[in-house]
Amino acid sequence: MIRTHYCNDVRDHLLGQSVCLMGWVQRRRDHGGVIFVDLRDRTGLVQVVFSPEHNAEVHRQAHELRSEFVVEIHGEVARRPRETENPNLPTGMIEVIVRQLVILSVSKPLPFQLDDADVGEGVRLQYRYLDLRTPRMQKNLQFRHRANQVVRRILDEAGFLEIETPMLTRSTPEGARDYLVPSRVNPGQFYALPQSPQLFKQLLMISGYDRYFQIVRCFRDEDLRADRQPEFTQLDLEMSFVGPDDVMALTEQVVAGIFHHCLSLEIPRPIPRMTYAEAMARYGLDAPDVRIPMELKDITGIMAQTGFKVFADQTRVDQNGRPRGVIKVLRVPGGGQRLSRKQIDDYGSFVAVYGAKGLAWIKINGPWDQDGWQSPIVKHFSAAEKAAIQEITGVEAGDLLFFGADTHKIVNESLGRLRVRLGRDLNMVEDKLFSLVWVTDFPLLDWDPEAKRPVSVHHPFTAPSPEDLPLLQSTDVYDLLQVRSRAYDLVLNGIEVGGGSIRIHDTQMQKQILALLHIDEEEAGRKFGFLLQALEYGAPPHGGLALGMDRLMALMLGSESIRDVIAFPKTQKAGCALTQAPSEVDELQLRELYLRRVVRPKGDSA
Ligand code: AMO
Ligand code: AMP
Repeated sequence: MIRTHYCNDVRDHLLGQSVCLMGWVQRRRDHGGVIFVDLRDRTGLVQVVFSPEHNAEVHRQAHELRSEFVVEIHGEVARRPRETENPNLPTGMIEVIVRQLVILSVSKPLPFQLDDADVGEGVRLQYRYLDLRTPRMQKNLQFRHRANQVVRRILDEAGFLEIETPMLTRSTPEGARDYLVPSRVNPGQFYALPQSPQLFKQLLMISGYDRYFQIVRCFRDEDLRADRQPEFTQLDLEMSFVGPDDVMALTEQVVAGIFHHCLSLEIPRPIPRMTYAEAMARYGLDAPDVRIPMELKDITGIMAQTGFKVFADQTRVDQNGRPRGVIKVLRVPGGGQRLSRKQIDDYGSFVAVYGAKGLAWIKINGPWDQDGWQSPIVKHFSAAEKAAIQEITGVEAGDLLFFGADTHKIVNESLGRLRVRLGRDLNMVEDKLFSLVWVTDFPLLDWDPEAKRPVSVHHPFTAPSPEDLPLLQSTDVYDLLQVRSRAYDLVLNGIEVGGGSIRIHDTQMQKQILALLHIDEEEAGRKFGFLLQALEYGAPPHGGLALGMDRLMALMLGSESIRDVIAFPKTQKAGCALTQAPSEVDELQLRELYLRRVVRPKGDSA
């Protein structure tokens, strides 16, 4: 027999009609002779009724039903008696009176109750196929499906071609470690799984495909967090003959489309923009959560002559007249009243993780000139300094000030993270579900203190901003780090959901940048020779972006972790609890791949 409806589609309009449903027994209730079953499929639930009055044989059969049995039922749609109506269920006004029952499959008792909120994620991931039966996971994966279809439709209409790129390939530098795959037919050689399709999409532009996209798996061997998986999915796109504005406008169209079709929400367009410099100055992070109404203020200038040693260490200037570090202050409205000494100390430990050597603070009980500032450090401040801090922070009685003094990197990161943490702890996050912002004009280069060389902030194919080209010639590292790039990130609620750039399409420029990164010609040729060569055969100006679909979906669904929007995710240790991957392989397989296991000596953790 053929299924006529999904469970959730059985509604009023079918009253009196015959239906055939297939699904899982969610629950069986025996009510003095009448047996009720909640029948479930991927769309939802419907109540089906086995009553001896209607059909004695079927009623007898229904006694065999247990949770998660798979059944086929035939019956008539009827209105529920008024007292059994369930207004919380979309199908709660009707039920199906069963005429015929076929048990298609039986089930052992489940290792956990699907709706038991106390079941740990470990067990759920081990039996992921059962967890995927829950309404929550059903909703998440169907939501994600819809988003993918929206993306495909919008990009198709905008003239994009969906083109697949290789999974067995060479390393694509995105700043993580590669997953390597040994080659059987090329002894001793390895493929790398792509960290992104970056180089291939640039080649496609050189080939003239003009507008490319792909919903594509990327692989990065990096330390995992709630918003990072070793394999994850990008909506990757690239366009020819465009500038940053074109890529951003197109991205906004796609993101707005997803919000519109999946959540019925209209996001304000254009999405506001902020430069990287502004984001760092005001929020200390390049992915600011602008819903938190607190900002950092730079007081390095104010403190130039301070007698407080911790601060004076940072205001001292080097031989070029530049202060060694920076001093910033974060005003926490109401923090003086709401935070205990213990909490303040705990925040000190929190920022230590980001390298901060301390977290100076002032509790504001009243005006500074009436002894209203309470703090171990305030005795070091002159009246002029206090007046200037008052002026720049606008601080009021009941507030608290936190100070960071160190390198830009340490101060920005520690106070930036502290700001987000305080925003959550003190419930200061503005009651706005989604807040999108572009961060533009990222620096081209960062300094790797260990390797003692510049590294790309985005990736080595990102174009420098034309107005900063003269700085690229400088031999002073400070100047090089000032060079901006044509790169942009899309940030949702303080999380980077996408990033891209306009690329270098000129061989000489590309070689110059690789040289700056201390990648010599031999290494450049070996790693990206094919790209450098391709750039010599008519490369159009081009640029693009990739959206992290897992992160976008998780944020839109209000999930804590991207694992909730991935059918078969990995654990924190990059393993699969279901298949037990990764696993040992047998000797024969290793031998075929010309690999030998080197047993690690006991106690050697390297
Ligand atoms: P990028 O490295 O910024 O850019 O990656 C783009 C987006 O992918 C998401 N993302 C991740 N999501 C889950 N787990 C991870 N481990 C992970 N790593 C990254 C983020 C990020 O914003 N080729 C460039 C794009 C371009 O220049 O066009 C790239 O890969 O949301
Ligand atoms: P000290 O003079 O070392 O006792 O420090 C006085 C106060 O300054 C303490 O509250 C420290 O937590 C704080 N402090 C020390 N180093 C720093 C720093 N680099 N940035 C901000 N505060 C600091």
